[in-house]
Amino acid sequence: MTAGGPPEGIESEMIRYYAARADEYDDWYLRRGRYSHGPANDAAWRSDLEAAAAWLSGRGFRGQIVELAAGTGWWSPLLARQGQLTLYDAAAEPLGKARARLAAAGVTGAEFEIRDAWREPDRLVDGLFAGFWISHVDRGRLDEFFGLVARWLIPGGLFAFVDSCQDPESGALDHRPPEDDVQVRRLDDGTSFRVRKVFFEPSDLASALERTGFSEIEVVTTNRFFVLGSGRRR
Ligand SMILES: C[S@@+](CC[C@H](N)C(=O)[O-])C[C@H]1O[C@@H](n2cnc3c(N)ncnc32)[C@H](O)[C@@H]1O
Repeated sequence: MTAGGPPEGIESEMIRYYAARADEYDDWYLRRGRYSHGPANDAAWRSDLEAAAAWLSGRGFRGQIVELAAGTGWWSPLLARQGQLTLYDAAAEPLGKARARLAAAGVTGAEFEIRDAWREPDRLVDGLFAGFWISHVDRGRLDEFFGLVARWLIPGGLFAFVDSCQDPESGALDHRPPEDDVQVRRLDDGTSFRVRKVFFEPSDLASALERTGFSEIEVVTTNRFFVLGSGRRR
């Protein structure tokens, strides 16, 4: 796929996957069904999720905030309480879930739009968040994506992301680890899709942020499951 061009191959398969998964996506966060790994692992997951939310709350988002690949909006209420949030995703189905989540949380004023995460910015904003999107970026395109994020942001603007560490108890019980950064994902109805899944090293994420124009860089991990990163546009 070229920046701004139509998604092709695995890029479009990922969008079809998340569209089809919208109804069951939160099972992953909530450790339901095939995503439950027993009481000890599930408690560790919940603890890491709380740590990630606390970390994200403390980043200092304000003003105009863009959320790319927002999906079902798990992080959106937290962000929308800190500024004027616009949620973008390439698939309508998860965005519909995000809209309902924000309404249920009593958050008004957020905006929603179908938009490819690779499209060039149409304005400058104060903050940008991407949850579990970096791990879907091609290994060779990380700098390109962070460069795009930098072009969204005013000088001093804040970028933060939450993403996956490789842990055997993170995904569904019937999913195997990615091979060559490609993973087969099954849905409850038995259909399966290929997604790109890249577990970037925290040090590689920090180096890429440095190279692409960020300062005040922080890349940390929770106990087991998540990598958390942020930086300010220089
Ligand atoms: C792993 S989900 C993350 C959802 C949400 N950000 C979260 O943290 O739970 C990835 C999301 O990326 C979206 N997506 C896939 N390809 C995309 C693209 N090219 N541009 C924008 N969104 C895309 C999917 O529809 C899906 O909602």
